[in-house]
Amino acid sequence: MSSPFARRSAVRYRSPMAVITPTGHACGAVVSDLDARAINDAEAAELRSALDEHHVLVFPDQRMSNDELERFSEAFGRLGTDPWFIPIEGSDHIAEIRRDADEEAPLFGEGWHSDWSFLDSPPVATCLLGLTIPPVGGDTLFANQHLAYDRLPDDLKSRLEGLVAKHSDRFIYGKGSMHDPASDETAGQTMAIRGDRDPYDGQHPLVRIHEGNGRPALFSTLGYVQGVVDMEDDEARSLLREIHEHQIDDAVIYRHRWEPDMAVVWDNRSVLHRATGGYEGHDRLLRRTTIVR
Ligand code: SIN
Repeated sequence: MSSPFARRSAVRYRSPMAVITPTGHACGAVVSDLDARAINDAEAAELRSALDEHHVLVFPDQRMSNDELERFSEAFGRLGTDPWFIPIEGSDHIAEIRRDADEEAPLFGEGWHSDWSFLDSPPVATCLLGLTIPPVGGDTLFANQHLAYDRLPDDLKSRLEGLVAKHSDRFIYGKGSMHDPASDETAGQTMAIRGDRDPYDGQHPLVRIHEGNGRPALFSTLGYVQGVVDMEDDEARSLLREIHEHQIDDAVIYRHRWEPDMAVVWDNRSVLHRATGGYEGHDRLLRRTTIVR
C-alpha cells in the first residue's frame, strides 16, 4: 500500500501559515514565508505536523540570536540537555558543532546515528542553525527510516518483529573513546565534549512506531547499537549489518547543503543523519539544540 504522504512528495503547497516545498528527495521540505523568531501556537502545531510528514524541515534565511534559537526549538517540544556536550556560555541547551580550518581531530558525527539513542528517552528532534558554512563540503546526510523499513523484504521484516536493540555510547564518548578529550587522537578538537562521565546504556525496539504519524521506522545504528537482547553477539552483529545496508541505501537518502542563517530541524525517530567532511582549510560552525517531549 502506498504511503498516505506519497501524493505530496514533490508538490509545493501553501499551508495556512507558510509555504512548504518538499525537497523531492527521500525526505525533507523547505519552509518559507515564515519568521522563525515569532512563531505562534497555530504555526507551531503546523510545523510539528509537517515534521511528522517530511521528517526534516529546512528554514532558509533565519538569522537568530541564542534566545531566539531556543524559542524556535520550543515550537517542536521542550528543550533537552546534552549528555556529552558542554553547552555554550549563557545557555544550558545550546551546543556548538564546530570544526576549525586546520583541525585534525576525528570529524564529529561522521557515523550514521540518531541523536543520543542510548538514553532511555532520546530527543525526538534536533535543531541546527548554520553560522559559518564552508564554500565546499560539510553537507549533512539524512536517511529516511520509514522508507527504509517499507523497502525491507518481507522475511526480514518478520525476523525483526519483537527484537530489542542494546544501545551504548561507550566507543564514541567517555574515557578511551574516539571523542575522549584527554586522548592523543582528539588533540586540537574544538568541539566542547565532556570526558568525565560513565557510558550510558539503553534498550529500544529495532522497529518503532512513530507516535506522530503512526508509521514503523528502523531504529538502529552500527555506532551505538552493540547487540540485540536474547541473541548471540555474532548473530546480532550480522543482523545489524544486514539492516544497515537497507538503512543507508541511496534510495532513502537526502543530502542537505547548508547556507549561513539556515535552520534545520529533524525527527530522530524518523531519520538517521551523519556529517560529511570535504571542507579542509575552512571553518564550519553551527549551533544545536535537542528537543524532548
Ligand atoms: C550532528 O550529528 O549533530 C552534526 C551533523 C553535522 O555536523 O552535519
